[in-house]
Amino acid sequence: MREKLRIAVLASGNGTNLQALIDASQRGYFHGQIVLVVSNNKDAYALKRAENHNIDSVFINRNDYRTRDDFDRAIIKLLEGYRIDLVLLAGYMRVAGRDMVHTFYGRMMNIHPSLLPAFPGLEAQKQALDYGAKVSGCTVHFVDEGVDTGPIIVQRAVEVCEDDTVESLSDRILAEEHKIYPLAVRFYCEGKLKIEGRRVRVSG
Ligand code: GRF
Repeated sequence: MREKLRIAVLASGNGTNLQALIDASQRGYFHGQIVLVVSNNKDAYALKRAENHNIDSVFINRNDYRTRDDFDRAIIKLLEGYRIDLVLLAGYMRVAGRDMVHTFYGRMMNIHPSLLPAFPGLEAQKQALDYGAKVSGCTVHFVDEGVDTGPIIVQRAVEVCEDDTVESLSDRILAEEHKIYPLAVRFYCEGKLKIEGRRVRVSG
């Protein structure tokens, strides 16, 4: 049997997506193993979740590096040291730099809480509410050099209700995020994804 893909998750916060990915991996939903969790925030609960599951976790401090490129190179080195096949950004509050994008292009995904290309960047759920959108959702995409602009892998729509607050909408979107991120990883592990320009073909 072929070996499981080696996965790293980069997270800055609570890490509920990380948790969904750990759970999916443990129940064999995809043929991959999360071997490393990296955070730029030493207080990220994501680090604690990794610890709870005996997954190596590393806090890497941006302030220890002079430039963003130096910081990125340190992360690349770390990921390469772990022979990582697939990098998952999950609530990682930094934009991946040029080197990182090039090193991992087609092997690095991100999850975003809107139906891209609508509402990229910060506070996507608030943006959707403020705009008056009737439908929002979430997107898993490959990472390119832009902010939330890479080729789209999976999306799921979530209706915006009349009485929604940022919190209630975020909660319902998050529940869908927890389903589509493992699904995107599953497609990847099964070799089903092919990037053709902006489009990602999902075979089978
Ligand atoms: C999610 O909404 C994700 O889409 C966004 O940041 C949030 C992270 O949540 N990029 P969590 O840390 O996975 O709970």
